[in-house]
Amino acid sequence: MESFSITRPDDWHVHLRDGAMLSRVLPYTARRFGRAIVMPNLDPPVLTTADAEAYALRIRQCLVPDSDFEPLMTLYLAESTTPAEIERASRSPVVAAVKLYPKGATTNSARGVAALDALGPVLDALERFDLPLLVHGESTSPDCDVFDREREFLDRSLVPLVERHAGLRVVFEHITTADAAAFVEQAPARVAATITPQHLLMNRNALFQGGLRPHHYCLPVLKREEDRQALVRVATSGNPRFFLGTDSAPHSRSSKESDCGCAGVFNAPVAIEAYAEAFARADALDRLEGFASHFGADFYRRPRNRGRIRLERCDRPGPAAVGEGPDGLVVFFAGEALRYRVVGPD
Ligand code: NCD
Ligand code: ZN
Repeated sequence: MESFSITRPDDWHVHLRDGAMLSRVLPYTARRFGRAIVMPNLDPPVLTTADAEAYALRIRQCLVPDSDFEPLMTLYLAESTTPAEIERASRSPVVAAVKLYPKGATTNSARGVAALDALGPVLDALERFDLPLLVHGESTSPDCDVFDREREFLDRSLVPLVERHAGLRVVFEHITTADAAAFVEQAPARVAATITPQHLLMNRNALFQGGLRPHHYCLPVLKREEDRQALVRVATSGNPRFFLGTDSAPHSRSSKESDCGCAGVFNAPVAIEAYAEAFARADALDRLEGFASHFGADFYRRPRNRGRIRLERCDRPGPAAVGEGPDGLVVFFAGEALRYRVVGPD
């Protein structure tokens, strides 16, 4: 196809950060996506409804004057979170979901949850007030192999949690394995998953291609080729339980290229183009619109966006970085050819 248009997409999982980083990265998300689910793993994290409302305001203050981008906020589930806070969140016009980070699983998860069992009353409140639980699904047990963390979390924590809370809506975030895809396919309709462009386009060989490649390191870490293929299969299947969540997670070049580099791939500047590349490779461009623009809105029970964006064939590499030097942000897929580019609203 030379050119095609889709309903304006939404990003159901993004890290916008705060302060100077927020103003650097927000324009890339806000120019493409109608809405975004904004992750709460700031330092300190977004623990309360008041924190989330203040953060939403800071995001809005960074937008260009006529932007109609809508940040949808999340609370960070901590062991101190109370059912009363969940009730408050459910009444807030800006809070859309609550995020579970297993303690120590990823960037800024030190205040996350060590013992899921102790959370029963808070999960009951989520169910009662109908707020979705977004899950970073990785085991943090120290003897679990890094490539098995998602499967171990799924078996030991997520399956029992979904069974125990029969009315809870759950998004299994940034799934990376065939096991996770199979679980969501057979789970009740209240369970969905987001999938990132990096997990659709790369497998774990990319981490070691010609040397150690820190800009391909994110969590959950890239998996085997058969896992990547399973993700492509479900993302392009038209199954509404799988939808777009970029997990765009900017870290400066110096904090990635370090003896203990941060986890996170910054893909916001090329996110739609990268998804289009993955769908084009699978000969499934006709399924991109559902995945990118319909299914997430339906799951979150929000209206689909009304605007459209147009993509055009180009076969050119995307931008390599935003900014220069140690503070620069290396962009996902830097230098690789992308078949499509967004040419603006339709
Ligand atoms: C994210 C970040 O940097 O905040 N990093 C990542 O590798 N995805 C955190 C997360 O979503 O795990
Ligand atoms: Zn994330």
